[in-house]
Amino acid sequence: TYIVNDACIACKYTDCVEVCPVDCFYEGENMLVIHPDECIDCGVCEPECPADAIRPDTEPDMDKWVEFNRKYSELWPVIITKKDPLPEAEDRDGEEGKLEKYFS
Ligand code: SF4
Ligand code: F3S
Repeated sequence: TYIVNDACIACKYTDCVEVCPVDCFYEGENMLVIHPDECIDCGVCEPECPADAIRPDTEPDMDKWVEFNRKYSELWPVIITKKDPLPEAEDRDGEEGKLEKYFS
């Protein structure tokens, strides 16, 4: 599966949702997540994210992010249409420690 990590927080560009063939992105206040059980591992969303927030779970130490994505995908509504990024997206892009600072 692929997951969204904290690089998405406070950016939320939403380019990713347009390409997902199974509509498995879910929208929170300031980030998206992928439902790990619905993702078919096609990989097409990964290069679409300007913030490089979409990663395969085959990278090291991904368990935390898989569980994070699962938890919130079951609480948040699905998103299938691209919308404007958050107003501070460019300023927040690439910033460290976004989970602690901005996640809501
Ligand atoms: Fe959707 Fe494919 Fe990305 Fe999984 S890897 S979230 S199926 S676009
Ligand atoms: Fe987030 Fe990247 Fe999608 S910033 S909303 S994962 S395009």
